Amino acid sequence: MEKDLLSILDLSQEEILHLVDWSLKLKDLGNRGIPHRPLVGKTLGLLFEKPSTRTRVSFQAGMYQLGGEVIFMSPSELQIGRGETVADTARVLSRYLDIVALRTYRHETIEEFATHASIPVINALSDRFHPCQVLADLVTIQETLGNWRGIKVAFVGDGNNVAASWINLAARLNLEVVLATPPGYEPPQDTLETAQREGARVQITHDATQAVEGAQVVYTDVWVSMGQDREREERIRALAPYQVTPQLMEIAGPRAIFMHCLPAHRGEEVVDEVIDGPRSAVWDQAENRLHLQKALMLMLLEQI
Ligand code: CP
Ligand code: NVA
Repeated sequence: MEKDLLSILDLSQEEILHLVDWSLKLKDLGNRGIPHRPLVGKTLGLLFEKPSTRTRVSFQAGMYQLGGEVIFMSPSELQIGRGETVADTARVLSRYLDIVALRTYRHETIEEFATHASIPVINALSDRFHPCQVLADLVTIQETLGNWRGIKVAFVGDGNNVAASWINLAARLNLEVVLATPPGYEPPQDTLETAQREGARVQITHDATQAVEGAQVVYTDVWVSMGQDREREERIRALAPYQVTPQLMEIAGPRAIFMHCLPAHRGEEVVDEVIDGPRSAVWDQAENRLHLQKALMLMLLEQI
């Protein structure tokens, strides 16, 4: 049966390490201008319900670099927008495409699509998880800090899809994740329970200062994720004490790096001085989405 990536928990530790290694190899080949086109004749479908800059363009550019083709689809242009079921759409698209990435509001939509698809399905972000993001972040940590083993990642802010994927990653790898979030903004209980069952070093606190002490990575994301605009005011009020400032970075220590999956809402979850500062890894993070997703497509298409 074909392999999917709906959440980090679909991958073994070995597969994650293989992806990181290959991302760095592909990045090096790219930097040296050496063409690598093993996916000639293959087609990637991108079916996105929500906007995207990094994920869409890096998948698209990545597939072109590997020799393949891409078809971008939004639901309003497909019959799915007029009521054709997700299951039927998955069955039909599987007859045309070799691999597909979906960005949806509800995670269940990707699960349902994957159940009925006969090609590899990638979660390109859902309300629950953003696995491609944290895998690429691991590449950035490896490059920037030299190692991710044993590090402490302080995720400061909303316990959203990116935070949940970090918690999943802690269930697979030897790293510690401390999430500082206001009461009521924790990730879903089942994500935490699964991680705890797998022996993950995950802690939830309401104190941003405590979370960042001794952390090598201070990570944040927007306070209002796509699809949550109606809660904007209430979220900004609740999350205001969790802004990443130079003072918070000071507490983390002089060698801690700042990470953000982007897009950033400057002046909300992070201030300019931090995101534009010397310890910010955000542009490398964005670049590494390209290399990681190339490695991911090669792995799911059994080329590596
Ligand atoms: N980080 C990320 O997934 O960005 P986009 O929403 O621009 O794809
Ligand atoms: N948590 C954000 C991530 C964007 C890449 C969202 O879901 O909108």
